[in-house]
Amino acid sequence: MTEMTGDPFYDDHLLSEIYDAWHPRAVRDDFDFYLPLIMQANAVLDIGCGTGTLLNEARQYGHRGELCGLDPGQGVLARARAFEGITFVLGTLPQPGLDARFDLAVMTGHAFQAILADDDVDQFLSTVRQCLVPGGAFAFETRNPLARPWETWTPDLPAVVRLDDNSRVTITTTVTSGFDGRTVSFRHDFAGDHPGLPLTSESTLRFHDAETLAKRLEESGFSLEARYGDFQSRPFTAKSPEIITIARRR
Ligand SMILES: C[S@@+](CC[C@H](N)C(=O)[O-])C[C@H]1O[C@@H](n2cnc3c(N)ncnc32)[C@H](O)[C@@H]1O
Repeated sequence: MTEMTGDPFYDDHLLSEIYDAWHPRAVRDDFDFYLPLIMQANAVLDIGCGTGTLLNEARQYGHRGELCGLDPGQGVLARARAFEGITFVLGTLPQPGLDARFDLAVMTGHAFQAILADDDVDQFLSTVRQCLVPGGAFAFETRNPLARPWETWTPDLPAVVRLDDNSRVTITTTVTSGFDGRTVSFRHDFAGDHPGLPLTSESTLRFHDAETLAKRLEESGFSLEARYGDFQSRPFTAKSPEIITIARRR
């Protein structure tokens, strides 16, 4: 069965604020990739929408159709719900009422990698398909394991961010279980002068190789329409940082 609960990181309200400070628009080249797709689609579902910033940007740019964000994280959803004119649903798929009406589903910020087991991935893809109109598209990305991104997830490369109240947060990442051909587990430690700190979060991410992922999509009723290796839409190669897929519902 698809994992119904997400990562506890995204339930916490302070960590959700830290997430936004850590991923400001200036570093979100993925938004530049997904926004044109969203603007061309009438009804859009953002699965694992987090704090809702992508859909909000689409609305600010003048998207007039249905925009719906779905996320199991209570902390991020609370932030998202501050944006007006967008429906935000707490939960994941399958979700009653989200059947067969979206022209486009997106899944950004590597949220797809939160689904770990093979059976859960297959069931998830089937339920995404059921949310789409015939001919609708699913656009998402997953990090390329051949690029071994976890090798940079080390405590000697901390991130430092400032929150709205000007408190300073240092984030260190430690891999707790290395790549075993499928998953990597890691811990984030958050320290700083905010009274809610220190905090720690533990996460596991699933990695997919491009060909097996394409096969899974085909078997789940999608046709692979396009595959890119980065958010500048360069072709996918073994060295690409990302496997970005646009799959169309058959
Ligand atoms: C790294 S964040 C990305 C958030 C947002 N899409 C972005 O690009 O900033 C991953 C998100 O995936 C959500 N998530 C985890 N498991 C999920 C699932 N099974 N279904 C939907 N969302 C999930 C988390 O709650 C979290 O908000």
